[in-house]
Amino acid sequence: MSSETAAPAPPCVMIIFGAGGDLTKRKLIPALFHLCHGGLLPDTFAVLGLDRLDLDDGAYRDLLAAEVRQHVGSAWDAQTWDRLCGQLHYMKADFTDVESHMALCEHLTRLDADRGTEGNYLFYLAVPPSLFGGITRLLGEVGLTAEAADDWRRVIIEKPFGHDLESAQDLNRMLHETLDEEQIYRIDHYLGKETVQNIMVFRFSNGFIEPLWNRQHIDHVQITVAESVGVEHRGAYYEEAGALRDMIPNHLLVLLGFLAMEPPNSFDSCAVRDEINKVLDAIQPLTPEQVLTHAVRGQYGEGSMPSREQVQAYRSSPGVAPNSRTETFAALKLTMDNWRWAGVPFYLRTGKRLPAQYTEVAIQFKKAPTTMFKGMDLEDMNPDMMVLRIQPDEGIQLGFSAKVPGPTMRIGTVNMDFCYADYFGNAPATGYETLIYDCMHGDATLFKHADTVEKGWEIVESVMDVWQALPARNFPNYAAGTWGPEAAEDLLRNDGRRWRPIATPSPTRCGQ
Ligand SMILES: NC(=O)c1ccc[n+]([C@@H]2O[C@H](COP(=O)([O-])OP(=O)(O)OC[C@H]3O[C@@H](n4cnc5c(N)ncnc54)[C@H](OP(=O)(O)O)[C@@H]3O)[C@@H](O)[C@H]2O)c1
Repeated sequence: MSSETAAPAPPCVMIIFGAGGDLTKRKLIPALFHLCHGGLLPDTFAVLGLDRLDLDDGAYRDLLAAEVRQHVGSAWDAQTWDRLCGQLHYMKADFTDVESHMALCEHLTRLDADRGTEGNYLFYLAVPPSLFGGITRLLGEVGLTAEAADDWRRVIIEKPFGHDLESAQDLNRMLHETLDEEQIYRIDHYLGKETVQNIMVFRFSNGFIEPLWNRQHIDHVQITVAESVGVEHRGAYYEEAGALRDMIPNHLLVLLGFLAMEPPNSFDSCAVRDEINKVLDAIQPLTPEQVLTHAVRGQYGEGSMPSREQVQAYRSSPGVAPNSRTETFAALKLTMDNWRWAGVPFYLRTGKRLPAQYTEVAIQFKKAPTTMFKGMDLEDMNPDMMVLRIQPDEGIQLGFSAKVPGPTMRIGTVNMDFCYADYFGNAPATGYETLIYDCMHGDATLFKHADTVEKGWEIVESVMDVWQALPARNFPNYAAGTWGPEAAEDLLRNDGRRWRPIATPSPTRCGQ
């Protein structure tokens, strides 16, 4: 989506369940602010916030003003806020109660008449997942999910989409009782990040990349999603989830899907989904024996972050058991059984209290077959590496060999570095803008379909089973501020490889 060429969204009301919650204040309304600033919201648009707070429209607008101002930072402008603010409405509701849903019907009819929103509704469920089924059922009961020829009804739900395969299937079944799959938009804000979409553009609109993108030329792939933060106020949730459940079936596997997919016939949601699902189908689930050697878990103890801040152990966080066995770090080695990727390992790692808040994909190419430079050993030469940086500074870096100037033949590694911000500026974004806008347009390309969610759980199920059957005995096994347990290094070392060193605290280059 580019605001220079994109048309405003169609007329609609965005109904936010959980309008007084954290996600709404920090992400959703700021994302609408950015869309409004870019001219991408029509005049025929309204937000109807629902929550149990006792507020009227004016008080709700006041509540959000301070939050939005804080979260959009330097992008704040009063004119944009005035425009958006006039489109914000509020209704007190109990989401478990049919009367509230009936009142919602009446409210929406009034908004359609006043605002020209034409009966198009985007329901955003910014609530705990335990409420998804009940809310969609009640929306169905009061007739708000039925689409007519000239209007649409769509529902965005937030992760987690279940906590294992069975619960994900239950959730999908529950949603499908009221909604068609085409009406359900499962959001993963990682897919709203420019670089994730740009993986597709990079791979499929540059003729020179695709011939290299396979097992002939690629030695292995590393995906790192590192968080420097701890569990903060989410201790109780995290105790039940852990790093594997929280990150791998959704963010990391979808990234892997975009990296490894075959070219889809078009950039159309069904075509893209089918190709991602084929990748997930080709991933070999680990056998219980393989889990012991191909999967690593860790939990952080107290330690010192690169900022020199001393931080407490996971087990000392609020809401966390003092003898917790929940992992805050997970790494996997996965392989794919298909023509393009057979024999190419994909190493995934994610964790909390790592030294940087940083996401990247590193693609290591195979070495040259021989060296013709006298005195140079192939072993001395670094392999060529392409790094797709996803956050914080989105960009692409290619590391390759070059001659060090001088009379003798010496070879060093140099980097070509492309930064999005250098070329396209730094458009402020929360990661939700594209996704909300796409949903308003009915484009589900960047959303997860039911089968993608279930396949993600299938892949990690054996790991979850073994880890549950054999609780970790050596937790905590890494200090906060380090790159995880030693076993994560061994995962690659045993294959004669190593994780790409990542600068700390945050390897930013753009805008420096
Ligand atoms: N926050 C994030 O950055 C983030 C990121 C990714 C995904 N998510 C997901 O987004 C969803 C929302 O997260 P959140 O952090 O915004 O949660 P939250 O702060 O707890 O917001 C939920 C809001 O809904 C209200 N609510 C709950 N049950 C209600 C009911 N029966 N009737 C009326 N109001 C009710 C809550 O009111 P009370 O506070 O009074 O209960 C609260 O204001 C969750 O599924 C979460 O996993 C959040």
